[in-house]
Amino acid sequence: MGGGYFGGMDVTHNMAPEAVPTNARPGIVSRGFRAAPDALNERHWVRQDPYATAFFNALSAVFPHGETFMIRSLIPWVERVPASMRPEVEAFIEQEAGHSREHVAMNKSLINAGYDIAPLDRKIRAFVSFFEDASDIVKLTATMCIEHFTAIIAAELLENRDHLAGVDDDMLELWLWHAVEEVEHKGVAFDVWVFATKDWSLARRYAWRSLFMFAVTTSFFINRTLGQVELLRQDGYSFFWSIKQVIKAGFGKGGIGRNVLRPWASFFRPKFHPWDKDDRLLIAQGEADLATIAAKRAGFAPHEPGIAKALKAAA
Ligand SMILES: [Fe+2]
Ligand SMILES: [Fe+2]
Repeated sequence: MGGGYFGGMDVTHNMAPEAVPTNARPGIVSRGFRAAPDALNERHWVRQDPYATAFFNALSAVFPHGETFMIRSLIPWVERVPASMRPEVEAFIEQEAGHSREHVAMNKSLINAGYDIAPLDRKIRAFVSFFEDASDIVKLTATMCIEHFTAIIAAELLENRDHLAGVDDDMLELWLWHAVEEVEHKGVAFDVWVFATKDWSLARRYAWRSLFMFAVTTSFFINRTLGQVELLRQDGYSFFWSIKQVIKAGFGKGGIGRNVLRPWASFFRPKFHPWDKDDRLLIAQGEADLATIAAKRAGFAPHEPGIAKALKAAA
């Protein structure tokens, strides 16, 4: 697996978006998952590690408003894009609406565990309100950049299972499901943006997306770090200790931040397009793991001969 699926061809910038080859694009399906746990089985639910737990909690806290912003940014384009692109945009909206709904449920479990997520909520509301009076293209560009972030983090979670190792099935299912769908729709906002900017020069496009990516990265890094630090403060850790540990956990060997640096930087290739990296195998592996969890829940061990029956029963 890896980049260059199209053999280095420029399949996006010199072609109308509706002509982009579809051979590396997964079908986008909203799985209608409704099972986010409403209680944590333990406060530090990621291997009893407060720092790893704070990373996922800080993301979950901002997903409902963040993903609602992305949905709202895409809605004005549903009727404007060519009819051939519309089903993907609608599927994107449906998937993000599901994520937002389920992370509201997970956030209730954080509140039930005694966390105050209001400070994190205020940060994401401030980010969203910054764009309130912005034009449709500005909101779309910001969304397209955030989508690159969510896609590379999701791919890292699917590729490197150490991050979610030791997590109970309910939480694992929520995060695997979200990751699968993020990777699955990773190029939709980019495709809409390519359509929206089809009359722009390549230089203008590149300048815009690079500038926005730096701005979004700065905001993401600062606010998600502070979000983790706030949750760790509520766990009783000091500000400076938490900052140090959060940076170490994220950017030390094997850290998510460190591992996504390369995919993040790939965005700055002039001919970058999210679909260039074929992630269909990654999606299939994630789906297989989701099916295994469903089968386990239905009372079947994956190695048992009745697996096909179990999967059918659990569907
Ligand atoms: Fe999402
Ligand atoms: Fe997304």
